[in-house]
Order: sequence, then structure tokens, then C-alpha cells
Amino acid sequence: MTAHTTPAIAHHMDLTAFNTLGFSVSAEQYITVRDTQAFIQWWCAPEQATLREQPRFILGGGSNLVLTQDIRALVLHLQTVGMQEVKRDDMHVWMEVQAGEMWHDFVMYCVAQGWAGVENLALIPGTVGASPVQNIGAYGMEAGQAIEYVTAFDFATLQMVQIAGQECALAYRDSLFKHALHNEQARYLITSVCFKLRHDLRDWQATLGYGDVASRVRENTQGRAVCPNDVAQAIISIRQSKLPDPKVLGNAGSFFKNPVVDKPQADALKTQHDKLPCYPMTDGRVKLAAGWLIEQAGWKGARSADGHVGVYDKQALVLVHHGGGTGAQLMTLARAIAEDVQRKFGVFIEPEPIVV
Ligand code: EPU
Repeated sequence: MTAHTTPAIAHHMDLTAFNTLGFSVSAEQYITVRDTQAFIQWWCAPEQATLREQPRFILGGGSNLVLTQDIRALVLHLQTVGMQEVKRDDMHVWMEVQAGEMWHDFVMYCVAQGWAGVENLALIPGTVGASPVQNIGAYGMEAGQAIEYVTAFDFATLQMVQIAGQECALAYRDSLFKHALHNEQARYLITSVCFKLRHDLRDWQATLGYGDVASRVRENTQGRAVCPNDVAQAIISIRQSKLPDPKVLGNAGSFFKNPVVDKPQADALKTQHDKLPCYPMTDGRVKLAAGWLIEQAGWKGARSADGHVGVYDKQALVLVHHGGGTGAQLMTLARAIAEDVQRKFGVFIEPEPIVV
């Protein structure tokens, strides 16, 4: 292997710029992966035997991550780029996208080609490699609906594996990768994701059922046929009006998952709070809007006593870092909110991001 492809290990690497909440923690050891092949070859060499036994942590865009302390592990930061068409038929095109590509750039590429399948997921921060981990979703669409397969390096067997979308246990903000990440030794390094997109849009129906997406799209299109880019543009403007830009105000998107409760519990809550937003699920249970519960509990726009962390004033589901704070402070705030919601509504809400 040539010297320039051998990953250099940095020690006590500052991760402030690599997590969108902007918490200042460091990684004991840190490697940037820019070439998957070269990394794997290096990783499997006999000289790395000790390194292979050490705890490791895989970092993508850092947009769904709460760092509460220095990471005592080897942090692998994926920065591989590239997108490639791997197959096409009359209706679909299959794109294999490297893990380090920014998700939003991929979405914009697809809509620019006139392809459908990920347009409702515009402006979600983070990388393509992270998209299957928590099965990113928004406005009636989930990444899992378009994922054909995930290619990953399996640290347990030192082999590359290809896992079909159906085998990834993709569910609401969940997948097999999310669980494999919680293990001390993160098992998979997702290297690329293959998406199946539609290029033939005859009889295509845009996904407009969520919130004010339909009205926003109608406003922009004024009666002409809707294309995937119209949907993406509508979603971008909706997201910009509700969600803080991580470059301006540290955040990790929705901080809590929307809780799913049994129908009788949802019905009981609804009789007490007729405005409670409820979304029936296919399994009969009901998803509730955590943001609504948090706002009703009085937390919207709240700040910790020192002012470092708080609840976003336009969307109560988003916790923000105003500067000078720590992940531990954010978690203290999150616990106080969750306990209060539990006390007032009897509903358990749990954090959505990965907490380290
Ligand atoms: N609501 C309030 N007050 C708030 C926030 C929300 O009353 O402060 C109400 C809204 O009025 C609405 C309902 O709660 O009736 C749902 O709100 P919204 O449509 O804004 O969506 P959400 O449930 O807060 C979820 C996802 C978002 C995704 C949007 C749109 C989760 C955890 N969050 O948020 O995903 O963009 O729907 O699909 O499922 C993310 O995961 O990081 C994320 C931003």
C-alpha cells in the first residue's frame, strides 16, 4: 500500500466541528477514512491486531449524536464520496452512494435528474452512510423505502457484507445497525448504500399527505404537474421555518422519538386533550406528537438556568445548544422534560439520537 493511503491516527482529536450539537469533546484516537478499500486492507494487516481489539466508534455527519464525554475509543470518521448508477430498467434506476456523501446532496442530485423516492427527505442533515442506521424519515417517507441494499465491512468477520434492505430491520428511527452501534465494538462499517429510485414518473403520485406539504406544493406549482423537485423545495421551506440550522444553532434534529402507545391509552388521552395530534399506525397502535406534549408541558423555548442548553422556540421536539454547554447538561434537561411529560400525560418519551 502506498504511504498516502495509510490512515494516520490522530490522538486527542477535538470533535467539536464533527457533531452538530457542537459539544467540545475529544476522541482518544481518530482516523479519517477517505478510501474504503485502502482502509480495510490496512485494518486487516497483522500490525493492526491490537487496534482491532480496541473499542471503536463510527462517526458520520455527527447530526444524530449527543457527546457527553470524551470518547475513549478509536473514532472512524467516514469521508468517502461518490455516486454511481449500477442498474436501470424501464421504471427504476439503482444508485450506489458512498457512505460519506452528504444526504441532502444526494437528494438534490436525484431530484435534479427528475427521479423520485427520496424527495421528502430533503435537507435532513448527516451522511448517506448514517441514513439506514436510524432509518431517517420525514413528511411521510423513510429512507428504508428506497434502500435496496447496504454494503458494509463486518468487523467481526473482517469480510464485506451486502445486506438487503428487507434484512436491515428498518423500522421507525431504527435498524439492526443502530443496535450494532451500541455494542462496545461497533460491528458494521457501512461503506455504501444502494437506493432504488423511479425515473419513469408516469402514474407517479407525490407523497403529500403530511401536514402542510400539499398546500405548500400547490402554492408553488399553481396547477401544473408536480415533480419530485417541487416536493423537495416545499419540504426545504417547511424545514427551514421550523428547524434550526445546525451551522447557526447547535442541535440534533428531533431530540425525542414520537411515542407509540396502545389505542385505549391514545383514546383516553384524546378525551382529556382533544387537540393531541395522533397518527394511527398499521399495527393498530397510535403514534403521538412528542413536540405537542412537550409544548403543552410548558417547555417550548425553555433554557437551562445557565442558559447553555434549551428547547427550540419554534419546535419543542428539538433541543439546542446555545454555546458553552455540555452533552451532560443537555441530557439533564432531556431527563427533566421526559419526567415532566411522564408526570403530566403518563407517556414515556425517549431520546432519538445516539448518546455517548
Ligand atoms: N407540535 C406542537 N408543538 C411543537 C412541535 C410540534 O404542537 O413544538 C405539533 C405540530 O403542530 C404537529 C405535530 O406536533 O401537529 C407534529 O409536529 P411536526 O409535523 O413538526 O413533526 P414532529 O412529529 O415534531 C417528526 C419527525 C421529524 C420530521 C417531521 C416531519 C420524529 C422524532 N420527528 O417531527 O424528524 O422532520 O416529523 O415528518 O419522528 C428528526 O428525526 O430529526 C426530524 C426532524
